[in-house]
Amino acid sequence: MYPFDMKNLSLIILINCFLLNLAFAGKQAVIEFHTPIGVKKLTLDQMKKRFIPREVSTYNLSTRRLETFYGFSMDNIIHSFWSDIKEENNFVQIECHDGYVAYIEAKKFRSDKSYIAFKGKGKAKFTTINGFSKNLVELGDFYLVWKESYKKGHATKRRHHWPWAIKSIRIINELPNKLKPEKSASVNTNWGYLNFVKQCLTCHQIHGFGGEIGPDLMESANWKKQDNVWLYKYIDNPQSLNKESQMSKFPVHIDIRDVRIKNIILYLRHLVQYKGNYKEGRYKHKELLNILKKKQGLK
Ligand code: HEC
Repeated sequence: MYPFDMKNLSLIILINCFLLNLAFAGKQAVIEFHTPIGVKKLTLDQMKKRFIPREVSTYNLSTRRLETFYGFSMDNIIHSFWSDIKEENNFVQIECHDGYVAYIEAKKFRSDKSYIAFKGKGKAKFTTINGFSKNLVELGDFYLVWKESYKKGHATKRRHHWPWAIKSIRIINELPNKLKPEKSASVNTNWGYLNFVKQCLTCHQIHGFGGEIGPDLMESANWKKQDNVWLYKYIDNPQSLNKESQMSKFPVHIDIRDVRIKNIILYLRHLVQYKGNYKEGRYKHKELLNILKKKQGLK
């Protein structure tokens, strides 16, 4: 005799699934907006009441297709929740359900139009193929899309983040000092820091701050024992050193790619050297941009 009656067991599982479905049915996903007056959680229906849904056609560099979505203007959303935003200093932090966190300079949302999309036009499913892993990904419930200009001569190689499965949005005054190089650090180290924020902080923490897909690079001991040739290879093409790697290649078509990778290495080594034990002050983001612009004409 079986200790369990299999028929009963499957019935129990069926009933449980049914109850679970009931619990989730009617419970719409939300975006958490961390506003100055507390966390506001809005469902899609609530967003539709507050913001006007628009139809947006844009060229998606990752799928290399012209795509049309329905979404809400990010500029409207930002100015509705954060009326005191200082575009020059602030970052918009967009956290996703898989641990990916994008840090985007607030001023980008002013110069380039972006939308929080909730549906693709003429599509039953809100999915896409991940340009890197080639896996099918669920974009829902909320996906940030940009209406970038792809005219000839426009710098298309430095693309924006298009985070999907968005969980929360907040504004950050300045990135924390523990991420930043010391004031006396070289221009290249500082430039490496800016590149790290854009390309790596999405998945890696530094002293507990950042995305959570990969390890905290200040905690992880392995790479610190390796030389710069290894580190360069890992950033350039992680799968060449580790077949199972979940890390994406450094953007393949970005301009002056080699210099960017080398500067990121300078920045990481600089952080390890100081072990978070800083004596000097730090530049504000805006100051840093001005210094770099003056010294190297870099953007
Ligand atoms: C899509 C997420 C993602 C991005 C973006 C990303 N990484 Fe990673 N990284 C990972 C994951 C996950 C690992 C863990 C091992 C693996 O899968 O390769 C990792 C591992 C590493 C390691 C090895 C750690 C060790 O001690 O062995 C280094 C170094 C590293 N990443 C540096 C970077 C740098 C520098 C950037 C930016 C240029 C970057 N990563 C961008 C996800 C990412």
